[in-house]
Amino acid sequence: MNRPRTISPRQLLTAIAERAGDAPVKRLAVYVHIPFCSSKCHFCDWVTDIQVGRLRSAADGRAPYIAALCDQIRFYGPQLTRIGYRPTVMYWGGGTPTRLTPDEMRAIRAALDDAFDLSGLVQWSMETTPNDLDPDRLAAMREMGVDRVSVGLQSLNPFQLRRAGRAHSREQALAAVPMLRQAGITNFNIDLISGFPGEDRDSFDRTVEEVLELDPPHVSVYPYRATPKTVMAMQLDREILQAHRHHDMVATYEMAMERLGRAGYHEYCHGYWVRDAAHEDRDGNYKYDLAGDKIGFGSGAESIIGHHLLWNENTAYAAYLRDPRTFSLAHRFTLDEPERLTAPVGGALMTRRGVSFARFRRLTGLSFAELRATAYFTRWFEVLGECGARFVESDTHLRMDPAVIHKAYITHLVNTTAGGLAPRRA
Ligand SMILES: C[S@@+](CC[C@H](N)C(=O)[O-])C[C@H]1O[C@@H](n2cnc3c(N)ncnc32)[C@H](O)[C@@H]1O
Ligand code: SF4
Repeated sequence: MNRPRTISPRQLLTAIAERAGDAPVKRLAVYVHIPFCSSKCHFCDWVTDIQVGRLRSAADGRAPYIAALCDQIRFYGPQLTRIGYRPTVMYWGGGTPTRLTPDEMRAIRAALDDAFDLSGLVQWSMETTPNDLDPDRLAAMREMGVDRVSVGLQSLNPFQLRRAGRAHSREQALAAVPMLRQAGITNFNIDLISGFPGEDRDSFDRTVEEVLELDPPHVSVYPYRATPKTVMAMQLDREILQAHRHHDMVATYEMAMERLGRAGYHEYCHGYWVRDAAHEDRDGNYKYDLAGDKIGFGSGAESIIGHHLLWNENTAYAAYLRDPRTFSLAHRFTLDEPERLTAPVGGALMTRRGVSFARFRRLTGLSFAELRATAYFTRWFEVLGECGARFVESDTHLRMDPAVIHKAYITHLVNTTAGGLAPRRA
């Protein structure tokens, strides 16, 4: 498939340099997308457009991707460094980055080292599944500098794991945390999904209870999204599985809130729980808190940098391998296409702090007041109000009343199946 060539890589870099601001040093989040997994899970909406064979590629299938990724990093990195960008956080997500061998990971790390000054990194996270973890891989990750790991457990109910198409057992899930600690990784996250079709509240309650016994520094609880084209959404359509009703989804999430709150965790952004702010996902601070520019490398990555939204489509994989330097889309933010700003605005509203008008202007070049007055956002805010959102506004911020964020998020999710207020991590 040919991607529309909206702007050449050189023109794009010039446009970014013009709008990146005058600060001699600009902090940057670096995201690396690895579109490989050992299974295609029945619920997962990150991989809907990826064929199973390609997703599960063996090393020879992965090699062209790694070459393209390293080329893209080596092309953009030095130019962004010249403009003044210095990475402060790095996140490798997917897919499942730990599907890569240690040598494949080292090759990508070497490209990043050549391209950027990584001496200012304060956090480097990597996503994994329990079945893709082993002591050798973890040792290599530590040696490279990975200091935070995000493990997808989803559930500890063995039937639910099977129904969800996971490649790991309950036992492997329970073994993952001691293995991380043994490898010296003390900062880690556990992903759970609340409101899975077919899983009752008691089952999820037991999962949360058992996860808390593992004493994780960070827990993410994602209410289930029935995204079209996933196996589970098709099973719901054919009535092989039953969706939970809205009030059950809310009650299940509230039960998790109760348990996490009692165990001393607080929710700094919808679904993200920590005891200690030091364990927050620093990449999430960029993604949801409008903290600064972000460059995403890889076939399905998204970037917001120099007032531009850049992304590559998962479906354009072959085109990415041929020309990894040209993004599928390179869009300069304008008030003429306000819908392009749905994800950053929705993301910021899921945080306790809300949308900072100053940060929003720095990141997008636009006035939040003007954006909000567009027909698209006027209607968007009305829809959120209909979902139960209440807003609190000051001279500097617009935030959602924290008591209702989860209800508004779940209601919006159930009504639209479009990924909640803002699509989560990709
Ligand atoms: C990009 S996925 C990758 C994580 C890793 N590959 C794994 O499987 O654990 C990140 C997280 O998104 C969440 N997620 C994916 N699809 C979802 C859906 N349909 N509804 C709710 N959460 C979902 C899961 O909790 C998953 O761990
Ligand atoms: S949940 Fe993780 S392992 Fe499963 S398909 Fe999605 S990205 Fe891959």
